Formats: sequence, structure tokens, C-alpha cells
Amino acid sequence: MKTINVNLGDKSYPIMFGDGICQNIAKIIKPIVKYDRVVLVCDMNTYPLYGERIIRSLEISFDSVCVIPTGESIKTIETVSEIYRKFYECHLTRESLVITLGGGVVSDLGGYAAATYMRGINVIHIPTTIIGMTDAAIGGKTGYDLPHGKNLIGAFHQPKAVICDFSLMRSLPKAYFQDGMAEIIKYALIRDAVMFETLNSDEIPMRDIICRCAEIKAEIVSEDEKEGGKRKILNFGHTVGHAIETCTKYTDITHGNAVAAGMIAEIRIGEKLGITPSDTAEAVLKLFDKMGISVKADYLPEELISVVGADKKRHGDQIDMILLEKIGRAAVYPLSLKKISELLK
Ligand code: GLY
Repeated sequence: MKTINVNLGDKSYPIMFGDGICQNIAKIIKPIVKYDRVVLVCDMNTYPLYGERIIRSLEISFDSVCVIPTGESIKTIETVSEIYRKFYECHLTRESLVITLGGGVVSDLGGYAAATYMRGINVIHIPTTIIGMTDAAIGGKTGYDLPHGKNLIGAFHQPKAVICDFSLMRSLPKAYFQDGMAEIIKYALIRDAVMFETLNSDEIPMRDIICRCAEIKAEIVSEDEKEGGKRKILNFGHTVGHAIETCTKYTDITHGNAVAAGMIAEIRIGEKLGITPSDTAEAVLKLFDKMGISVKADYLPEELISVVGADKKRHGDQIDMILLEKIGRAAVYPLSLKKISELLK
């Protein structure tokens, strides 16, 4: 089993990787956290595939399982309320534990419910997607969407552990795989030019690549837990990507495709400003093509600009845009909304 640590003083935690490690999940969890009760939050995809296995290992009954629907469009206050209801019915206390089993939507919602129920109870994430293992389950960001913007409500709530069992990804549908590859390409672009080359090669060591992405995320979060500075570079492609998801009402495009389209838009902004080398968008589009990642998105440019204006990273009339200085290096560039809208045209 490989372990990467997120170092945050008394909030530090391990990200564990292995094949089949969830066979005996209780044995892994018990030395990490004490709990009186446990609730498993999963979704309609992960419950039938892996629910039974986890329930057996945790020695809990189906009464302690909260199964939510799937998809970004369910990241709402209504779903959070459903999860709270389950916590209440299960008599959770401040000594209890929430375990999430699923992709980013499940860890965001289950993590947010854990962050806020009784002012915060412990959570462990078991991600089942590439996005979950490389990004969403790591770093403590939890929350839900509003119709006006993605992740506008949320809390930082670090998990006690992130347990990544590669065997849970075997039945990952192709669309989820491509979504994950878009997030992996983001890590290569912001931090690891060698990874970008590896992704362009014929042999991609997926497990090593997933661990490397988690390692990059752990390093960045360990230095900047609450996104005061360095962590902002993880948002590369996400300012425009999240706005595309909002404009398409979280249904017409997957998160990965929106981020892929967002990365190309943000690379082009960098190219126009002379910050990003001029052949970068072309090189990234070639890699997207190899991976079968589409950057097609249907939205009105004026609506996109108005949603970008409501971004969480706005301060005054400026937004911290993350631009590539070269493949493997990103930096924060505050730009006025006026400038961004000109550059997005
Ligand atoms: N997904 C970006 C972050 O966790 O900061």
C-alpha cells in the first residue's frame, strides 16, 4: 500500500492507495479514527457495485446507508437535507463517522453534510473515480451548487483519511475515465511537464499518474489549506469551466469536458497576453484528441462572461486568473473583468 500525507498539523491525514484495500476497510479505519456510529454516503452507481462489500466490512446495516442520486445537477441543498435526515435517523453524534463512497459529487455533498451536522463530524472519503482520487476527495473542499454558480456554498472540512482502492475503478464508465483524464492533464499543465510528455506517449502508467496527481495536490494543500495563495493554481481551467457548467445548468456537459474547454479558453487568454507560449493550445488540443476529450460546449458568450463575473475568486472588479507560463508552470494573474471579457471573445 502506498501512502501520501497531507501535512496540516493536527488536521494531517493519509491518502492511501492500493488494489483491493477496501476488502477490509474497518481494519484500515480503526487505527485512524474512533467512532460510535457510522453512516455510509454513496450514490446509485456505487451502492450496487461496492455498497455490500463496504457494509460487510464496516459491520453496519443498510439502515446506516444513505444512497443519493447521481450527477452534478443533484449537488443541491435538497440533497444535503436528505443526507442530514439520514444522519438524524441514524442518531449520529459528534463522535460519529461519515464515510463517502463515490466520485466528486458524493464527497462534496457528504463532506459538506459532515462539516455542518452538529458543527462538524469526522469524514473519510473512499473515491471511486479518477477525479475523486486525484482531486475532489483531497484537500477538504466540500459544498453544493446554486443555480447562479457552482460550489457557491461550501466549507473546508479535511477528512481523516482518503482511501483509494484501484479495484473500485474497474467498472468506471468511459465518460468518467475521460473526465478524470482532463483533470490529470490539468496537473501536468500546472506542475509537471514530464507528466505531459508521458500522457502523450503510447504507454500511460495510470496508477503512477494518479498517485503523482494526488502527491501534487497534497503538497499544494499542505502549503496553503484555505486557498490564500498557491492553492489557486489548482483552479486552472476552472474559472471558465465552472461558468460553462453553470450556463449549461450542470446537465449538458460533464465536469471534465467543461474543465477541458475552460483550460483551452484560459490558455488562449494567456497566449493573447503573451504569457503562454503561442503553440500551447494546439499541443493541449492534440492531447485531448488522443484521449477522446471533447471541448465542445454550448453557451451564450454574454451569459458566460456574466457568470465568470460572479466567480468566488473575484475581488473588486478583478478575478485571479490562473495562466500557464509554460507547460508545467502556472501562476496567478489578477485581471479585470473588462479585460477577461475582451479576451474571451
Ligand atoms: N479542486 C481545486 C482545489 O481543491 O483546490
